[in-house]
Order: sequence, then C-alpha cells, then structure tokens
Amino acid sequence: MNDPHHQLAVFNDIETLSRAGAEFWIEQARQAIAAHGKFFVALTGGRTPVRLYELLASESYVDQLDWSVVYFYFGDERMVPADHPDSNYRMAREALLDHLPIADSQLRPVPTGLASATEGALAYEALLIGSLPLSENGVPIFDLVMLGMGDDGHTASLFPDTEVLDETNKYVAAVYVDKLSAWRISLTFPVINQARQIMLLACGESKAPILGEIFKPGAAIRYPIQKVIPIGEMHWLLDTAAASQIQQQG
Ligand code: 6PG
Repeated sequence: MNDPHHQLAVFNDIETLSRAGAEFWIEQARQAIAAHGKFFVALTGGRTPVRLYELLASESYVDQLDWSVVYFYFGDERMVPADHPDSNYRMAREALLDHLPIADSQLRPVPTGLASATEGALAYEALLIGSLPLSENGVPIFDLVMLGMGDDGHTASLFPDTEVLDETNKYVAAVYVDKLSAWRISLTFPVINQARQIMLLACGESKAPILGEIFKPGAAIRYPIQKVIPIGEMHWLLDTAAASQIQQQG
C-alpha cells in the first residue's frame, strides 16, 4: 500500500469525506470526458457512498458536468430484484440516479432478473465487453471504479474464502457468500485492477484493524482488499476512525 499507485486521505467525518469524494468524482468525470468523450464509472454499494451520491445530485454539483455522456455501472449487486431494499441499484437510484438529467440508456445495472446469478454474471460480462473500451488483452476499462470495504476485508462482492478471489479469466462472476447465505454478482479483480482510477471509501472503527494491518510495510496478503492492485491510481478516502490504526509512515 506504500507505493505511488496508492493515495491516502483522511477526513474528520463522513460529510467532509463525501464532499472531497464528490469533488474527486467530478474531476475524474471531467478528465475522462475531455480525454474520450464519455465517463464510464462503476458505482459501489453499501452505506458509505450514500452521502457522496446525494452530494453529486445536489445543486452544488449537478450543474458541474455534462451528465449526458456519463454511463453508470455497478461493481457488484445482490441477487435481488432491482426494487428490493437490499439492491445497490435501488440505493443508487434513490440517492443519485433518479435526480440526474440522464437517459435510461445511461444506466447499466447488473441484471438480477435472469434465471441465476451465473446467467446474470455472463450477461453483465457481455455488456462490459460490448460497451467499454478494452485493454490490449481485452479487459474492459472503467474510468473510475468505486469501492468500499467490509469489516472482513471484502470489497465489491469479493469475500474471504470464495473462489472468485483467484479468478483471472472472468470479468464478472457469480459469488455464493456462505455467511450471508446469499448469491452476489461482482466484478472480478482483473477488471477492477484495469480501471484508470479507483476510489475506496471507508468509515468507522470497524474498518480500522484491517486498514491498520494492510498499510504496514510488507504486510502479508490476508484480505480480499489487498488483491486490488491497481494499474492506474487508487485513492483511499477514510475517516479518522477507520484510519485510526494506520501507523504514520516515517
Ligand atoms: C455491497 C458493497 C460492499 C460494500 C462494503 C462496505 O454490495 O455491500 O459492494 O462491498 O462496499 O460491504 O459497506 P459499507 O459502506 O456499508 O460499510
């Protein structure tokens, strides 16, 4: 974590973190639109990004971008209907997407209405390949992937002790999470790591132990989050509670 690909920023609270995150998000969008005319972003689920999403939809930011060329994907999704309370898509629609001047064609949620999570993953992978720029190795390239981190060190739906952690060929995978007794659909590390920019949001004491451990120089690879090895840059936006066990590097 102590290499130039990783930038760490710590904020007093989720409001200041979310404002800084919104500024960063808008800047990444502007740079992508200037570079290739579109902004391809994978939103994260969970609770932490909600305030950032609300800010992006607020009058502080909603006029700062040509939203007509922004395309919204998701880093992962729960295998529930799109209007289910647990749906990341529903959360993002309520906090952000329903408040933007965008067309339905710009919304690219994970398909959870097919016969299985596996079919949903295959369909989403085909969508990524058919709609995103591809690397020379054929890997879909997001301009920005947003991530969170669970208390167990998972990110997206890449949970500890799941085979998907070692997936190197698929870009999207169906993941059965034993401890949740639930199916998920998730981007895999090859796609996440191919992104031009990654931003990770983490708040709260419960994230501090793992963050303290993985930011130690030479830390052993023990958690899924440590398999995010960005080709581009990774920006860690943490609040003081989440960063409280990270030793200041001399
Ligand atoms: C999800 C997210 C997941 C989330 C972490 C952190 O579908 O829940 O993709 O990876 O980012 O679990 O969640 P919180 O932001 O709620 O702590």
